[in-house]
Amino acid sequence: MTNNPPIRILALESSCDETAAAIVENGRKLLADVVFSQIDLHALYGGVVPEIASRAHVEACDRVIDEALRQAGLSFADIDALAVTYGPGLVGALLTGVSCMKGLSYALRKPLIPVNHIEGHIAANYLSHPDLEPPFLCLVVSGGHSHLVNVPDYATYELLGQTWDDAAGEAFDKAARVLGLPYPGGPRVDALAEEGDPAYLHLPEPHTEGRYDYSFSGVKTAFLNAVNRLEMTGQPLPKADLAASFRHAVVEQLAGKAMLAARETGAAKLALAGGVSANRELRRRMTAECEKAGLPLYMPELRFCGDNGAMIGSAAYWRFLRGETAPLTLNAVPGLRLVSGN
Ligand code: KG4
Ligand code: ZN
Repeated sequence: MTNNPPIRILALESSCDETAAAIVENGRKLLADVVFSQIDLHALYGGVVPEIASRAHVEACDRVIDEALRQAGLSFADIDALAVTYGPGLVGALLTGVSCMKGLSYALRKPLIPVNHIEGHIAANYLSHPDLEPPFLCLVVSGGHSHLVNVPDYATYELLGQTWDDAAGEAFDKAARVLGLPYPGGPRVDALAEEGDPAYLHLPEPHTEGRYDYSFSGVKTAFLNAVNRLEMTGQPLPKADLAASFRHAVVEQLAGKAMLAARETGAAKLALAGGVSANRELRRRMTAECEKAGLPLYMPELRFCGDNGAMIGSAAYWRFLRGETAPLTLNAVPGLRLVSGN
């Protein structure tokens, strides 16, 4: 694929509730992948507690890096560059990772590549699909973002549309709360929905100004009101039917706009990315729609849908080739955008 000598990047991800380290060769080949999930630490509180996340990252950073080197059978001397997520995310969580990798970069005299977390999610597809090359259209759906992005080249992005309010993952998490399901809610709503009737409850379709924009707050409010009304009857909630109806409404919107954008922009390929790309209905629906449209579809393997270090190591490679490294003044940027100005 490339004539460059092998470049091995050690990457760290700590933007939310996963402390993850990975070693990736030439942006595509995974040599080590270690993910320490903090889910157990936050479950008690029903969501991520930023202070607890920061402390847990501090404690886990060194351990996941050591474990990644051990898994790959490598030492620091075999690493060409370091990479770290510097935004978007929780400021304290990001800062622990950025500080850790700046320290390593200084001590080892190795370049440090700053990576945007959303860019990482997109790059997860390069790990799962060795044949995938830009240009492609990407639907990025995570806990904090719902974007339709055109990827004309490696590490180059054009924002076609985004959510006006909640992100798709955030909406799934809120629906889970309403149904009394524990954190993290998205996967639980998805699992429950498998046994439910999506036609049980009709939820409204939003109207957005931009053709490729999303909005999930109306669906969420309508869902909450419907559940409240049902609760007032004193009958047990048909949770599986409610979960299926909610999932159907969200997936309908995600898939509908993604296919519209693919058609209208003449996209040659379509990719999914982010935590919500693990959603079973979204994967089935996109597979069916793309098959119908004759459009190649790329989805990350399930292990690369959620947060991980491997995707950061892949995204970093394309930046490294362009000579984009960070000075030791690098700071965490919690509100970092994928495309500046948007
Ligand atoms: O990408 P991610 O791991 O973290 C962020 O960058 O935000 O995404 C996490 C989000 C959470 O909101 C989680 O509930 C959602 O992705 N999620 C799902 C599924 N798996 C994870 N939502 C719906 N269905 C799933 N199977
Ligand atoms: Zn993420």
